[in-house]
Parts: sequence; structure tokens; C-alpha cells
Amino acid sequence: MFLRVYFQILLGLIILSGLIYYFFCLPPKHPKNIPAVPFWVCLIPFLKDVDQRDTYHKYLEKPLIKHGAVKIFFGARWNLLVQRSEYVAEIFKDEEVYQKTGNQKKIPHAVVAEFLGDNIISARSSNWKLYTDIIKPGLQRNFETEPLLSNSSLLCKLLKDSQRSVGKSGIAVQELLQRYTIANVSQGLLQTDFETLSNSEAVLNKLQSAVKRQIFQPIFMNFPFLDHFPIPSRVKARETIKRFSQELDDKLTKAYEGKSPSLSSDKLGSRLLAARDEGLINDKQLHDNLNVTFVAGQENPQLLLISIMYLLAKHPEIQAKVRAETSKVDLDTATLQDLADNPYLTSMIYEALRLFPPISQLINRRTSVPVLLGGTIPIPAGMFVGYNSYSTNRSPTVWGPTSNDFVPERWGATNEEITKRFRKAKSRAEFISFHGGKRACLGEKFAMLEMRVSVCRLVREFAWELDPSWPERMTPAGPLYPRALRLVFHDLVKSEASS
Ligand code: HEM
Repeated sequence: MFLRVYFQILLGLIILSGLIYYFFCLPPKHPKNIPAVPFWVCLIPFLKDVDQRDTYHKYLEKPLIKHGAVKIFFGARWNLLVQRSEYVAEIFKDEEVYQKTGNQKKIPHAVVAEFLGDNIISARSSNWKLYTDIIKPGLQRNFETEPLLSNSSLLCKLLKDSQRSVGKSGIAVQELLQRYTIANVSQGLLQTDFETLSNSEAVLNKLQSAVKRQIFQPIFMNFPFLDHFPIPSRVKARETIKRFSQELDDKLTKAYEGKSPSLSSDKLGSRLLAARDEGLINDKQLHDNLNVTFVAGQENPQLLLISIMYLLAKHPEIQAKVRAETSKVDLDTATLQDLADNPYLTSMIYEALRLFPPISQLINRRTSVPVLLGGTIPIPAGMFVGYNSYSTNRSPTVWGPTSNDFVPERWGATNEEITKRFRKAKSRAEFISFHGGKRACLGEKFAMLEMRVSVCRLVREFAWELDPSWPERMTPAGPLYPRALRLVFHDLVKSEASS
């Protein structure tokens, strides 16, 4: 009797697994001429500790390069992941066919959707236009360099203190760079201050870490239906995002007390608050847009800076060349133009962005009608479409046999050559780190300024190398960048003074 019940349960489980496999895990038939990455590849990071570069080389690289696109399981559904530049350019161009479909539409019940809601990055049509009219002038103005210059000096002081406390060992940079980039986005863009550089216990830094840990967890990004259940960790995540939104709103409101926020100002904080006060957007829309500009404006520069520091540690000759070029920049008074006047520095930043785009893979568009991509790939209506910038940016067809190497010189020697090469690569979707077309990143100008200031200051103060005990590996899933990077810093200013 017991054995019979046991076999019935076993048979039930086998049938259930078969049905789940048949309905959810088998790749869709269409598009027929495109291969599928096996379903179980999405499970790899949950089963073992991997470097996602290995997963990419093993399962994605070849079919992506050969076919220009693959079917891939992500976010509990099958998607089309595009690699070939011509296809990506077509997607960027045709907003009506390949419609932006953010988490608020894809998975409205999910914690991530509650956090970022309907915002300038995920919205489309009239809402996107409304948010852009409010936010764009605040992101594209001529920024003051002062807060970034002084923050970079504070960062170096913190690095020096940390290095002194560990002697010759390496120091972990990720957390410090989070505090630094929070300070930059809040002071440089939002005209407020969360004191994350002066105080290692600053509330917003803690909340930002909690948000990343709890919300952008690969398991919930891959299987968002789990957010339907009152799992204690998800209830906690929902509380975290409420506290995060409130903290941002409170600090911003306080910073503008008695200053009458206005839509004729070019300051982002002022414009966002004025838009709410004048009824153009409601409280929820203010929070969604504030959260997304804050997260995008903080995390992307942080990840890029980690990758730049890693690449410069691996290539001391390039580090030395940047140091030599920027040695004349006066870091007390440097203007936007003084900083931009360093072509090798610019080409080095573009090259790092090419090799390690902070958003290495993105699937957030959905076809509104059946369409023939590139005249060859028939995509049904309603399919999610995205791209893998890590792969597109490294295409050997575009970048040649050295496409995986760090060669800043490939961008050109003068500012004019570099700008021309950058614009061409961006418009042809050969370099898609900043997205492209109408929906290209609006924070590019600020991000480039932040990188120029940071690198100029860092090479002035230090020579650095990889900690020999750091296991050289990238993150297992999500954004691809050096995982828990540890560096050893040699203080150049101190050695100059003592020599
Ligand atoms: C290295 C730094 C950065 C990189 C690589 C980057 C990359 C990107 C990418 C790939 C997108 C498209 C996202 C999507 O379609 O879902 C995007 C959009 C956007 N980014 Fe950035 N970003 C960076 C820095 C910033 C900064 C500092 C801000 C300032 C808040 C910012 C604001 C935005 C906005 C507002 C959009 C939406 C544009 C639109 O859809 O109209 N980004 N960015």
C-alpha cells in the first residue's frame, strides 16, 4: 500500500515536471531560423559559482556571432537576444514596432516594478515625452566640476587610509566606489548630499546596498512570478524600497526648502520637485523617476569605474600613458573643457566602456506586430527582444581580430578623430553601451565628466595593481564586471614628497 502511494506521487511529479518542461522550458518554434540557448543555461549561476564570461563563451558567443541572434530564456519567458549591429540598429530605430516594455508592464506585481514603476527609462509615448521634458534639461546642462573634483579628492583620502590600514595587501574597492558615486550623483545631479563619503554608516548607502542585494537578485529577476508570494525576504524588500524612496524625497525636499523649485531652472532636483508641485506628475511618478535617475546615475558609473580600474591595473603602460597626458590638469580648478582636452583619456574611457558595458545585457522591448528583422528573422508579435552589448561591442567583424583587447588607440589620436569614431560606432549600433537612437542614454555627458575627473585624480595620486591574491573573475550573473575587485595602491604623492 505504502509503495503504491509512493509510486503514484512519483508518477505525478514526473508528469508535472514533463508538463512544466513542455509548456515553459521548450523554446518557441518561432523564429525558426534562429537557434535557442538551452533552457538550463539560465540555471547555471544558481547551481555553481561561475564567471559569466565562461558561460558566455561556452553557450552564447558562437551562435550569437553566427546567426546574429538567439532565443534565450530569461525573466521566466523566452526572448530573442540580438547581437548583430544591423539588427540592433533596426530595433533602436523602430520604436513603434519594438516598443519599450519596462518591468511595470512586463511584471507589474514584481518588487522591481514597484521600485522603479513608470519612469523615463521604461515609459513610452506621452508619458516618456512628459518625463523627458522634465528631466532632460537637468541632465544635459553644463555641469559644475567643483563637487566632483572635491569628491574625487575625498575618495583618494579614503583609499589612502584603507591602504595604510592593510599594509601591502589589497583593498576591496566596490563599496568605496558606491559611496563615491552616490556622492557624485546626489551633489552633481540632484543638488543634495547624503554624506556617504564622510560617513561610512550613511543611511542612503546602507539602503542602496540593501536595494541591490534584495531587489536585483538574479533568482527573482529570472523567476519574477516568485514575487506573487509573501516570501519574508520579498516583504522585507518592499519595505526597503519604501524607505529608500522616502529618504530620497525627504532629502531633496529639504534641500529645496525656501528655494521655490522651478521648471525654468536647469537643475534636475528643482525641475522634478516643481513638476510635482505644479501637478504635472504625482507623488508616485516623482518617486519612480527619482529612484531610476538615482540608480542609473549611481550604479552605471560605479561599475564602469570598477572596470576601468581593473583594466588600468592589468595594463600599467596604459595607466602610465594616461598619467603622463593628464599631469598638467589643475585638479583644483579644472573645467569641463580642460578635462575633455585629453584625447587619450577619452579614448581609454570609450575603450573600457566598449569592453565592459555596465549594462551588459538588456531585454526590455516587445514587438507590437509580426516583423521581419533584417529581412531574415521572422519575429511574431508580442515577443520580447533585447540585446547583448558585451557581445555586440566585441564583434570581430566590426572591431577586427583585436576586438577582445584593450586598445584605446583604436579610437583615434585627436579629439576630432575620437569623437567621429565614437559617433559613427554609436549610430551604427556597433558600440551600444549607451543604447542608441531616440532612447539613447541621457546621462552620457555627466558620466563622461565623472569618469574624466575620477581617472585624472586617481592616476595623479596612485599607481595601482591587481592584488595578486584576488581570484581574477567576473560576476556570475547580472551586470558583467570584475567581481569583488581588490587592488593594491601605491601612493605617488607621498613618494614624490619624500623623494
Ligand atoms: C557609464 C555610465 C552609463 C551607462 C553605460 C548608461 C547606459 C544606459 C543605457 C544602456 C540606457 C538604456 C536603458 C534601457 O533602455 O533600459 C540608458 C538610458 C538612460 N540613462 Fe544611462 N547610462 C550611464 C549613466 C547615466 C547617468 C549618470 C544618468 C543620470 C541620471 C543616466 C540616465 C539615463 C536616462 C535618463 C536614460 C533613459 C533615456 C530614455 O529612454 O529616454 N545614465 N543609459
